[in-house]
Amino acid sequence: MTPWSAGLLSRNIMEEVALGRLTTMRIGGSAALLTVNSREDLAEIRQCDGRYLGRGANLLIGDEGVQEPVIRLGEAFAQRTVTATADGAVLQVGAAYDLGKLIGFCIDAGLAGPEGLAGVPASIGGALAMNAGTATVWLFDLVQRVEVVLPGEQQPRWLERSECPAHYRRSGLPPGTWFLACELALKSGDPATLKQTATRLKQAKAASQPLAQRSAGCIFTNPKPEIPAGRLIDELGLKGLRVGGAMVSPIHGNFIVNDHGASAADVAALIRRIRARVKAERGIELTMEVQTWGLDPEQFIPGPGDLG
Ligand code: EPU
Repeated sequence: MTPWSAGLLSRNIMEEVALGRLTTMRIGGSAALLTVNSREDLAEIRQCDGRYLGRGANLLIGDEGVQEPVIRLGEAFAQRTVTATADGAVLQVGAAYDLGKLIGFCIDAGLAGPEGLAGVPASIGGALAMNAGTATVWLFDLVQRVEVVLPGEQQPRWLERSECPAHYRRSGLPPGTWFLACELALKSGDPATLKQTATRLKQAKAASQPLAQRSAGCIFTNPKPEIPAGRLIDELGLKGLRVGGAMVSPIHGNFIVNDHGASAADVAALIRRIRARVKAERGIELTMEVQTWGLDPEQFIPGPGDLG
């Protein structure tokens, strides 16, 4: 049984899916997935509790999946329009648009800014929700407005950048905000130079991150810019530490890779062990960057047994 009307179901796609295949970590049980292609149904969709999925690049889903419907924006929300300004352009782009594709478009069009996010795997919606970023730029540095449905509301509205208290890896908007689109204010740039920057960033990532393996990117936020979580974990000798099929990447300490059919429980146990060691030896409580669905938050809190 689904909570939605026959009309809604005729305009959008509803299916039961194994969620793991929609995430880069490739872990997670099943759920009902609604792929939304009609704006007229947003209010009805909003009437029930759902979970919003982007590219699943920063997500760990429990082995039993989730009870709530999972909602993903379809092609109708992957539009892009460009309006020229005196010194560049305003680019409006839907949340279902792929961030990498947008970066490529901006480089070719000579629009500067997005190239600083080269190599970040995300949909625009996911990148907004997480304020995706690199060492040089965060998405919200470029945002002029965002289109959202706020918690407790059913209709979309545009918010100015000043209404979004974005910070490191956070949009600043409340949990349950549904991101539909954004407008980026971009200045003109030389395509060859923008391409060089993007290539350099991607090469640096390829050299320092386990991109060929299944992961959810960085597991923890950096406690401080000068104390990167990856370095902490590395210094404590935890690279290669394993629970079941989950392993701390030997390449980058802040990545957990699913290299052997890992379960969500394996990853959670490994996260507890890392947190326990970092707390015991450095007095630092690592905060998780990766989002979790269908998992009890208690599963990530270390106990005495996690130091063994
Ligand atoms: N380092 C180590 N050992 C490691 C990993 C890193 O010593 O195992 C050292 C590096 O040598 C460097 C410092 O730690 O001196 C920082 O490492 P890195 O340059 O890899 O950056 P990071 O802080 O670990 C951040 C973002 C990444 C983003 C990169 C590049 C966070 C948590 N991570 O990583 O974002 O790709 O900068 O811009 O902010 C993500 O958010 O999922 C993510 C991967």
